[in-house]
Amino acid sequence: MLDAAKNRLLSEVGPGTPMGNLLRRYWMPIAGASEFESESVKPVRLMGEDLTLYKDFNGTFGLVDRHCPHRSADMSYGIVEDCGLRCSYHGWRFDQDGRCTEQPYEDLAQPEARYRDKVRIKAYPVQERAGLIWAYLGPQPAPLVPNWEPFTWENGFVQIVFADVPCNWLQCQENSVDPLHFEWMHMNWSARLAERAGKYSPRHLKLAFDEFEYGIVYRRIREGMSEEDPLWKVGRVCLWPNALFTGDHFEWRVPVDDENTLSVTWCFSRVPREREPYVQERIPAWRGPVRDAETGRWISTHVMNQDFIAWIGQGAITDRTREHLGSSDAGIIMMRNRFWKDMEAIAHGEDPKATIRDPEVNRCVELPIADRKRLVEGGTLEHVLRSPASGRSTSEYVFQAGQPAAVRKVYAEAMGLPRRRARKVRRTARS
Ligand code: FES
Ligand SMILES: [Fe+2]
Repeated sequence: MLDAAKNRLLSEVGPGTPMGNLLRRYWMPIAGASEFESESVKPVRLMGEDLTLYKDFNGTFGLVDRHCPHRSADMSYGIVEDCGLRCSYHGWRFDQDGRCTEQPYEDLAQPEARYRDKVRIKAYPVQERAGLIWAYLGPQPAPLVPNWEPFTWENGFVQIVFADVPCNWLQCQENSVDPLHFEWMHMNWSARLAERAGKYSPRHLKLAFDEFEYGIVYRRIREGMSEEDPLWKVGRVCLWPNALFTGDHFEWRVPVDDENTLSVTWCFSRVPREREPYVQERIPAWRGPVRDAETGRWISTHVMNQDFIAWIGQGAITDRTREHLGSSDAGIIMMRNRFWKDMEAIAHGEDPKATIRDPEVNRCVELPIADRKRLVEGGTLEHVLRSPASGRSTSEYVFQAGQPAAVRKVYAEAMGLPRRRARKVRRTARS
């Protein structure tokens, strides 16, 4: 349980708040690079700041204030040019560093005044990595955008999936260190959604949580599992500061503001050996719905949609003065304690946990991965189709509702799914 003041300290993400300052020390994924094939400018809200993300004709990404410093017009309706973004109201142009590079009328009427040199727009660094656009809103020098091990893997099909989740980021992230919910929310509830008296799944018998350099590893033993099982020997990762990492996918909970979170999934599917060498030309990015348009209820059919129901159900900012933590919540306590310590570290001028500054380290940042062999070495198509781990995901994206038919199609082609299977994919896409 936390008192109300501490709950606020951990939840609030705006500029100048302690947690806002802490989160600003990390790069946040905010968009998919492939989104900018069809658009050049989009509004972005990140940690309570309204911003504009654009890609200019030179291919440079920029992240600037939502409002023009002249008279506050909306820069997300701006005009992209060779270098930078121009406000569509009176044509002031800014580069990715926030410099004003042109004021068409002032430059003509009073060139000697060089008024543009006195004006800047707020601008933040952005980088592209692994098909994602990352933003950094913290103090300089910025750390490196982590090059997590799966970003370096070959022979994989990656898709990026977004969802707009109307609640605070921290309750989403607490889910990243909560293995027990898997049994109830994903296994037992799904069984009962499918069948009124569906059978419950094996129970969790033992949980363990261990902090490491880049987060917290959680491990589990369920009925029928031995201590040799990779889920006990290696476990899964609550990745610092705001992600879950399961081996083949990352899920970031990116704070939009105190009461909204952008869920960002980066999902890697190893193509069968028959498809090697496979080079993905384009990483698709899509946005899934969270609410059923017909009933108005939250969608409950897919794994992450179920998670969203849990997070949203806890309230816009969950009231932790009312909680009763049990032994299964040891990881959550560990996480909160690390955040308190990191706030102190920052106050002393130190880097918080999992800040990467060494380029050598960042060539490939290894993480605990229970099924690394399958993901790196791959298997035959027959093996993939038979595998319970990957077989389920051959016909549709199991993690989130709303995968566009076009993404299913390129996925099926990348995997080299047999026609019969591909037809099933198409049928599913229509239903
Ligand atoms: S408001 Fe942007 S140029 Fe005038
Ligand atoms: Fe979950």
